[in-house]
Amino acid sequence: MSDTANPSDVPFTAVAKAGAIPAGQGRVFEVSGRLVAVFFDGEHYSAIDDLCPHMGASLGSGPMTDGCVTCPWHAWRFRLSDGAWCDNPQLRVDVFEVRVAGDMVEVRVPPAKPVELPTSRPR
Ligand code: FES
Repeated sequence: MSDTANPSDVPFTAVAKAGAIPAGQGRVFEVSGRLVAVFFDGEHYSAIDDLCPHMGASLGSGPMTDGCVTCPWHAWRFRLSDGAWCDNPQLRVDVFEVRVAGDMVEVRVPPAKPVELPTSRPR
């Protein structure tokens, strides 16, 4: 997929039965080659990139309170609505669309952008 692809062209993927994620918790699913943390607050689902940008902990295993998840390793907190780090909203994790279709929770997850490695150093 190119960078200009329309995200709405990415299909939704079913990840869990509605009700399978307990209220106040998250679960991690592999979708489109990415790890996605899906949370349920008792009324709504939300989905973010599972990997903490600090040192790579799984955000899906962190506690969820007041619309935020706390990283289980060093307690950075991320808002589930927009993925922003609560201490510095300029840093954020990806947020994905999530919906309930029938009795399934579905997420729309574009493939990760390829990592661009530096080319050879100038001489
Ligand atoms: S790995 Fe998440 S805060 Fe350190």
